[in-house]
Amino acid sequence: MSPRFPSSLTTRRLHLRRLHRADAQALCAYRSQPEVARYQSWTTYGPDDAARLLDDQQDRDIGTPGTWLQVAIVETSSGHLVGDCGLHCLEDEPQQFEIGITLAHDHHGKGYATEALECLLHYLFTTLSARRITATTDVLNEPAAALFRRLGFRQEAHHIEHRPYKGTLTSEFVFALLSREWTARSHSHQQP
Ligand SMILES: CC(C)(COP(=O)(O)OP(=O)(O)OC[C@H]1O[C@@H](n2cnc3c(N)ncnc32)[C@H](O)[C@@H]1OP(=O)(O)O)[C@@H](O)C(=O)NCCC(=O)NCCS
Repeated sequence: MSPRFPSSLTTRRLHLRRLHRADAQALCAYRSQPEVARYQSWTTYGPDDAARLLDDQQDRDIGTPGTWLQVAIVETSSGHLVGDCGLHCLEDEPQQFEIGITLAHDHHGKGYATEALECLLHYLFTTLSARRITATTDVLNEPAAALFRRLGFRQEAHHIEHRPYKGTLTSEFVFALLSREWTARSHSHQQP
């Protein structure tokens, strides 16, 4: 049986929880921002898209092979949903996860994505004993690549024009972080 995602994980400025049906309006508002949609699988994001995602998520849990769990990123000071993070447990190897993150445009540049992902990496590597975590970014999406580099991910691949995407051929980076690399990095960041 899959473990339950905690009712809430907290960081200095955020808390992370499962998505609720009541998140639909906020989810649509930021996912439909052009700056947010630019490198994502969608171009527009309306109420039907949000309803489908939220319905699918209600019975989901973390660590079910072959599924994505979308985690809400909530700003603690305002109580607003400011983004979401996807955690994909790989079908063939459930100790490996792929992650993705989306933040509302007005909350970029505050360190929220780094803060949320540091917390989720800790959760995946310690509580779920994840072995390897990957992320794929469009090569033109500089803030996303910078985010994964800042978190200690290694660039493992640079696929060039390998996939049709929004009327063009996209090039992508693949980033990866092993459990032992994350542990070594955590120790090197500890105060003496
Ligand atoms: C990818 C994405 C989440 C990155 O967001 P981001 O805001 O650049 O990343 P962070 O939230 O970690 O913020 C880091 C920035 O905040 C700055 N910052 C400001 N205050 C800070 C604080 N208190 N703590 C930490 N960083 C702070 C950092 O210096 C950094 O700025 P820099 O990039 O100019 O050096 C965002 O661009 C996004 O949602 N894009 C649309 C969706 C998308 O394309 N997702 C990628 C799919 S994988």
